[in-house]
Amino acid sequence: MAGYLVEDSRKVTTLRLKEMKSQGKKIAMLTSYDFTTATIVDAAGVDVILVGDSASNVMAGNQTTLSITLDQMIYHAKSVVRGVQRALVVCDMPFGTYQVSPLEGVSNAIRIMQQTGCDALKLEGGVEIIDVIRKIIDAGIPVMGHLGLTPQSINKFGTYAVRAKDMAEAEKLLQDAKLLAEAGCFGLVLEKIPAALTQKVVESVDIPVIGIGAGAADGQVLVVDDMLGKNKGFSPKFLRRYADLHTVITDAVGSYVSDVKNSSFPDSTECY
Ligand code: KIV
Repeated sequence: MAGYLVEDSRKVTTLRLKEMKSQGKKIAMLTSYDFTTATIVDAAGVDVILVGDSASNVMAGNQTTLSITLDQMIYHAKSVVRGVQRALVVCDMPFGTYQVSPLEGVSNAIRIMQQTGCDALKLEGGVEIIDVIRKIIDAGIPVMGHLGLTPQSINKFGTYAVRAKDMAEAEKLLQDAKLLAEAGCFGLVLEKIPAALTQKVVESVDIPVIGIGAGAADGQVLVVDDMLGKNKGFSPKFLRRYADLHTVITDAVGSYVSDVKNSSFPDSTECY
Protein backbone atom coordinates (compact mmCIF):
# COMPACT_ATOMS: atom_id res chain seq x y z
CA MET A 1 0.00 0.00 0.00
CA ALA A 2 1.34 3.45 -0.90
CA GLY A 3 1.41 5.54 2.25
CA TYR A 4 2.70 8.73 3.70
CA LEU A 5 4.52 8.70 7.01
CA VAL A 6 3.26 11.54 9.22
CA GLU A 7 6.36 13.25 10.67
CA ASP A 8 4.48 15.06 13.39
CA SER A 9 1.63 13.25 15.12
CA ARG A 10 0.55 16.28 17.20
CA LYS A 11 -2.86 17.82 16.54
CA VAL A 12 -2.57 20.27 13.64
CA THR A 13 -3.22 23.89 14.63
CA THR A 14 -3.48 27.09 12.62
CA LEU A 15 -0.06 28.10 14.01
CA ARG A 16 1.45 24.82 12.78
CA LEU A 17 0.06 25.50 9.28
CA LYS A 18 1.76 28.91 9.19
CA GLU A 19 5.02 27.24 10.33
CA MET A 20 4.62 24.69 7.52
CA LYS A 21 4.42 27.52 4.99
CA SER A 22 7.52 29.24 6.37
CA GLN A 23 9.41 25.92 6.38
CA GLY A 24 8.33 25.15 2.80
CA LYS A 25 6.38 22.06 3.90
CA LYS A 26 3.30 21.35 1.77
CA ILE A 27 -0.16 21.08 3.29
CA ALA A 28 -2.52 18.25 2.27
CA MET A 29 -6.23 19.02 2.65
CA LEU A 30 -9.30 16.95 1.70
CA THR A 31 -13.00 17.23 2.35
CA SER A 32 -14.99 14.78 4.48
CA TYR A 33 -18.65 14.77 5.41
CA ASP A 34 -19.08 11.68 7.59
CA PHE A 35 -17.47 9.91 10.55
CA THR A 36 -16.07 6.82 8.77
CA THR A 37 -14.46 8.74 5.92
CA ALA A 38 -13.01 11.33 8.32
CA THR A 39 -11.44 8.54 10.42
CA ILE A 40 -9.70 7.10 7.33
CA VAL A 41 -8.64 10.48 5.90
CA ASP A 42 -7.22 11.59 9.27
CA ALA A 43 -5.32 8.35 9.88
CA ALA A 44 -3.84 8.53 6.35
CA GLY A 45 -2.07 11.80 7.22
CA VAL A 46 -4.17 14.62 5.80
CA ASP A 47 -3.33 17.89 7.61
CA VAL A 48 -6.64 19.74 7.16
CA ILE A 49 -10.10 18.22 6.77
CA LEU A 50 -12.71 20.51 5.25
CA VAL A 51 -16.35 19.88 5.98
CA GLY A 52 -17.20 21.57 2.70
CA ASP A 53 -20.59 22.85 1.68
CA SER A 54 -19.89 20.65 -1.37
CA ALA A 55 -21.77 18.18 0.87
CA SER A 56 -24.78 19.78 -0.82
CA ASN A 57 -23.68 18.29 -4.19
CA VAL A 58 -21.81 15.19 -3.04
CA MET A 59 -24.03 13.97 -0.19
CA ALA A 60 -27.43 15.36 -1.16
CA GLY A 61 -27.25 15.45 -4.98
CA ASN A 62 -28.10 19.15 -5.28
CA GLN A 63 -26.95 21.12 -8.35
CA THR A 64 -25.30 23.86 -6.25
CA THR A 65 -23.99 24.47 -2.74
CA LEU A 66 -26.66 27.09 -2.08
CA SER A 67 -29.31 24.80 -0.63
CA ILE A 68 -27.39 23.25 2.25
CA THR A 69 -28.55 24.64 5.61
CA LEU A 70 -26.76 25.59 8.80
CA ASP A 71 -28.31 22.61 10.64
CA GLN A 72 -27.19 20.22 7.89
CA MET A 73 -23.61 21.58 7.97
CA ILE A 74 -23.60 21.22 11.75
CA TYR A 75 -24.72 17.57 11.41
CA HIS A 76 -21.89 16.81 8.93
CA ALA A 77 -19.24 18.70 10.93
CA LYS A 78 -20.18 16.97 14.20
CA SER A 79 -19.87 13.56 12.51
CA VAL A 80 -16.45 14.46 11.07
CA VAL A 81 -15.08 15.89 14.33
CA ARG A 82 -15.91 12.61 16.12
CA GLY A 83 -13.64 10.74 13.68
CA VAL A 84 -10.61 13.04 13.75
CA GLN A 85 -7.60 13.01 16.09
CA ARG A 86 -4.84 14.86 14.25
CA ALA A 87 -6.12 17.00 11.38
CA LEU A 88 -7.38 20.56 11.74
CA VAL A 89 -11.14 20.46 11.01
CA VAL A 90 -12.48 23.45 9.06
CA CYS A 91 -16.22 23.85 8.47
CA ASP A 92 -17.72 25.91 5.64
CA MET A 93 -20.23 28.56 6.69
CA PRO A 94 -23.13 27.85 4.32
CA PHE A 95 -24.71 30.36 1.96
CA GLY A 96 -26.92 32.92 3.70
CA THR A 97 -25.43 32.52 7.18
CA TYR A 98 -22.88 35.38 7.02
CA GLN A 99 -23.98 37.70 4.21
CA VAL A 100 -26.92 39.43 5.93
CA SER A 101 -25.02 41.25 8.69
CA PRO A 102 -21.79 40.90 10.68
CA LEU A 103 -23.85 40.36 13.85
CA GLU A 104 -25.82 37.47 12.36
CA GLY A 105 -22.59 36.08 10.85
CA VAL A 106 -20.72 36.05 14.14
CA SER A 107 -23.70 34.52 15.94
CA ASN A 108 -23.91 31.69 13.33
CA ALA A 109 -20.14 31.23 13.52
CA ILE A 110 -20.31 30.82 17.30
CA ARG A 111 -23.15 28.32 16.91
CA ILE A 112 -21.11 26.15 14.50
CA MET A 113 -18.06 26.23 16.79
CA GLN A 114 -20.09 25.40 19.93
CA GLN A 115 -22.26 22.68 18.42
CA THR A 116 -19.66 20.87 16.28
CA GLY A 117 -16.32 21.16 18.08
CA CYS A 118 -14.60 22.00 14.77
CA ASP A 119 -11.39 24.06 14.81
CA ALA A 120 -12.05 26.81 12.26
CA LEU A 121 -14.47 28.16 9.66
CA LYS A 122 -14.21 28.98 5.95
CA LEU A 123 -16.09 31.83 4.25
CA GLU A 124 -16.25 32.72 0.55
CA GLY A 125 -15.40 36.25 -0.61
CA GLY A 126 -13.07 39.21 -0.21
CA VAL A 127 -13.68 42.89 0.48
CA GLU A 128 -17.49 42.39 0.36
CA ILE A 129 -17.42 40.25 3.53
CA ILE A 130 -14.39 41.69 5.32
CA ASP A 131 -16.45 43.19 8.18
CA VAL A 132 -18.01 39.86 9.14
CA ILE A 133 -14.64 38.11 8.81
CA ARG A 134 -13.07 40.66 11.20
CA LYS A 135 -15.91 40.19 13.72
CA ILE A 136 -15.62 36.38 13.64
CA ILE A 137 -11.85 36.57 14.13
CA ASP A 138 -12.39 39.11 16.97
CA ALA A 139 -14.63 36.50 18.60
CA GLY A 140 -11.61 34.17 18.71
CA ILE A 141 -12.61 31.97 15.79
CA PRO A 142 -9.98 31.14 13.15
CA VAL A 143 -11.11 31.93 9.61
CA MET A 144 -9.92 30.57 6.27
CA GLY A 145 -10.69 32.67 3.21
CA HIS A 146 -11.83 31.39 -0.20
CA LEU A 147 -11.32 33.35 -3.44
CA GLY A 148 -11.48 32.70 -7.19
CA LEU A 149 -14.34 30.41 -8.13
CA THR A 150 -16.59 30.75 -5.09
CA PRO A 151 -19.46 28.30 -5.72
CA GLN A 152 -21.91 30.15 -3.43
CA SER A 153 -21.82 32.95 -6.07
CA ILE A 154 -22.49 30.64 -9.03
CA ASN A 155 -25.67 32.50 -9.94
CA LYS A 156 -23.69 35.75 -10.17
CA PHE A 157 -20.91 34.15 -12.28
CA GLY A 158 -23.28 32.03 -14.41
CA THR A 159 -20.47 29.53 -15.07
CA TYR A 160 -18.00 27.22 -13.26
CA ALA A 161 -15.24 28.28 -15.70
CA VAL A 162 -11.78 29.47 -14.59
CA ARG A 163 -11.91 32.86 -12.78
CA ALA A 164 -9.59 35.87 -12.82
CA LYS A 165 -8.27 35.42 -16.34
CA ASP A 166 -8.60 39.14 -17.06
CA MET A 167 -6.38 41.76 -15.44
CA ALA A 168 -9.10 43.57 -13.48
CA GLU A 169 -10.39 40.40 -11.77
CA ALA A 170 -6.84 39.15 -11.16
CA GLU A 171 -5.86 42.47 -9.52
CA LYS A 172 -8.98 42.44 -7.33
CA LEU A 173 -8.23 38.86 -6.26
CA LEU A 174 -4.67 39.81 -5.28
CA GLN A 175 -5.92 42.80 -3.25
CA ASP A 176 -8.61 40.60 -1.60
CA ALA A 177 -5.97 38.01 -0.66
CA LYS A 178 -3.82 40.71 1.00
CA LEU A 179 -6.88 42.11 2.80
CA LEU A 180 -7.86 38.68 4.15
CA ALA A 181 -4.30 38.07 5.37
CA GLU A 182 -4.17 41.52 7.04
CA ALA A 183 -7.56 40.87 8.69
CA GLY A 184 -6.06 37.79 10.35
CA CYS A 185 -7.25 34.85 8.25
CA PHE A 186 -4.98 31.87 8.97
CA GLY A 187 -5.20 30.45 5.45
CA LEU A 188 -6.73 30.92 2.05
CA VAL A 189 -8.26 28.60 -0.54
CA LEU A 190 -7.88 29.63 -4.19
CA GLU A 191 -10.23 27.80 -6.54
CA LYS A 192 -9.91 27.50 -10.32
CA ILE A 193 -7.67 30.44 -11.22
CA PRO A 194 -4.55 30.62 -13.44
CA ALA A 195 -1.44 29.08 -11.86
CA ALA A 196 0.61 32.27 -12.42
CA LEU A 197 -1.86 34.30 -10.34
CA THR A 198 -1.74 31.70 -7.55
CA GLN A 199 2.05 32.02 -7.53
CA LYS A 200 1.73 35.80 -7.10
CA VAL A 201 -0.66 35.35 -4.16
CA VAL A 202 1.60 32.73 -2.53
CA GLU A 203 4.49 35.22 -2.68
CA SER A 204 2.38 38.18 -1.50
CA VAL A 205 0.87 36.80 1.72
CA ASP A 206 2.45 35.07 4.71
CA ILE A 207 -0.51 32.75 5.29
CA PRO A 208 -0.78 29.31 3.65
CA VAL A 209 -2.49 29.31 0.26
CA ILE A 210 -4.29 26.08 -0.63
CA GLY A 211 -5.15 25.49 -4.26
CA ILE A 212 -7.88 23.55 -6.07
CA GLY A 213 -7.55 23.81 -9.82
CA ALA A 214 -5.19 26.73 -9.15
CA GLY A 215 -1.77 25.17 -9.82
CA ALA A 216 1.06 24.83 -7.30
CA ALA A 217 0.55 26.53 -3.92
CA ASP A 218 1.44 25.98 -0.26
CA GLY A 219 -0.97 23.06 -0.29
CA GLN A 220 -3.77 21.38 -2.22
CA VAL A 221 -7.38 20.46 -1.51
CA LEU A 222 -9.70 18.07 -3.35
CA VAL A 223 -13.20 16.78 -2.74
CA VAL A 224 -12.66 13.31 -1.28
CA ASP A 225 -15.36 11.55 -3.32
CA ASP A 226 -13.89 13.02 -6.53
CA MET A 227 -10.30 11.96 -5.85
CA LEU A 228 -11.50 8.48 -4.85
CA GLY A 229 -13.29 8.18 -8.19
CA LYS A 230 -16.80 7.62 -6.81
CA ASN A 231 -18.37 9.95 -9.35
CA LYS A 232 -17.60 8.99 -12.97
CA GLY A 233 -19.45 12.01 -14.39
CA PHE A 234 -17.21 14.74 -12.91
CA SER A 235 -13.78 14.98 -14.54
CA PRO A 236 -12.37 18.51 -14.65
CA LYS A 237 -8.76 18.94 -15.82
CA PHE A 238 -7.49 19.63 -12.29
CA LEU A 239 -8.86 16.41 -10.76
CA ARG A 240 -6.36 13.62 -10.20
CA ARG A 241 -8.15 10.34 -9.37
CA TYR A 242 -6.32 8.14 -6.87
CA ALA A 243 -8.82 5.27 -6.97
CA ASP A 244 -11.76 4.00 -8.97
CA LEU A 245 -14.27 3.44 -6.19
CA HIS A 246 -17.14 3.64 -8.67
CA THR A 247 -15.95 0.38 -10.23
CA VAL A 248 -14.90 -1.18 -6.91
CA ILE A 249 -18.30 -0.48 -5.32
CA THR A 250 -20.29 -1.48 -8.41
CA ASP A 251 -18.41 -4.83 -8.61
CA ALA A 252 -18.82 -5.47 -4.88
CA VAL A 253 -22.54 -4.69 -4.88
CA GLY A 254 -23.03 -6.75 -8.06
CA SER A 255 -21.30 -9.75 -6.41
CA TYR A 256 -23.48 -9.35 -3.31
CA VAL A 257 -26.66 -9.26 -5.40
CA SER A 258 -25.60 -12.47 -7.26
CA ASP A 259 -24.69 -14.24 -4.01
CA VAL A 260 -28.07 -13.42 -2.46
CA LYS A 261 -29.98 -14.40 -5.61
CA ASN A 262 -28.16 -17.74 -6.03
CA SER A 263 -28.35 -18.51 -2.28
CA SER A 264 -24.56 -18.64 -1.79
CA PHE A 265 -24.82 -15.92 0.88
CA PRO A 266 -25.02 -16.61 3.77
CA ASP A 267 -23.16 -19.92 4.01
CA SER A 268 -22.79 -22.11 7.10
CA THR A 269 -19.84 -20.07 8.49
CA GLU A 270 -21.91 -16.89 8.35
CA CYS A 271 -24.80 -18.24 10.47
CA TYR A 272 -25.31 -18.42 14.26
O1 KIV B 1 -16.97 22.93 -0.32
C1 KIV B 1 -15.86 22.53 -0.74
O2 KIV B 1 -15.64 21.34 -0.97
C2 KIV B 1 -14.83 23.53 -0.98
C3 KIV B 1 -13.57 23.07 -1.65
C4 KIV B 1 -13.81 22.86 -3.09
C5 KIV B 1 -12.45 23.98 -1.40
O3 KIV B 1 -15.00 24.66 -0.66
